[in-house]
Amino acid sequence: MSPKNHRSNSKSEEQLQAGSDRARPILHQKAREIQPYGKLTPMPIALDENVRAESVGNLNQILADTMTLRDMYKKHHWQVAGHTFYQLHLLFDKHHGEQDELVDSIAERIQLLGGISLAMAADIAETTMIPRPPRGREEAPVQISRLLEAHELILKEARTMARKAAEAGDDGTNDLLVSDVVRTNELQAWFVAEHVVDVPLVRAAGA
Ligand SMILES: [Fe+2]
Repeated sequence: MSPKNHRSNSKSEEQLQAGSDRARPILHQKAREIQPYGKLTPMPIALDENVRAESVGNLNQILADTMTLRDMYKKHHWQVAGHTFYQLHLLFDKHHGEQDELVDSIAERIQLLGGISLAMAADIAETTMIPRPPRGREEAPVQISRLLEAHELILKEARTMARKAAEAGDDGTNDLLVSDVVRTNELQAWFVAEHVVDVPLVRAAGA
């Protein structure tokens, strides 16, 4: 084998080697964040930075509370007890799914405004205004009371934030808060509240 041939053979082996390396996963990669939390990235949506910043802050609060209420519905779906077990088990799971859709809509609106949506459980726990329930099981009326109080907290802050967003010209945030957050929470509060109305099951009170 001439030196020339030897070189060209080793080159093609290198090329072969480089080609096979392309399938190798590049592991344990680390780098600086591309956007720190609390800093807004510019977005071409004709809204001033201060307007977007206020909406992002408010939406992250609603996001943390909505994620907490969503998770409380799943906790109660699993842990409910008593003669209304089946219907509450199903209702709590339905509401969990609807709250989960809200979570996605709120988080994605925060991103499109140029902000960063909260995501991880530890950050949600630090941010939510909803009191932490115990790890243990509670009676259905106590579960329902916790849910209703959480709904009311979210409804109160969502209406206030919706008004502020409308005043600032952020109609999209106003629409999300009114059409989705407020409407969903009002409807769910009704469905849950009717379970703690003390009416007779078999014999009417006056019979
Ligand atoms: Fe389930």
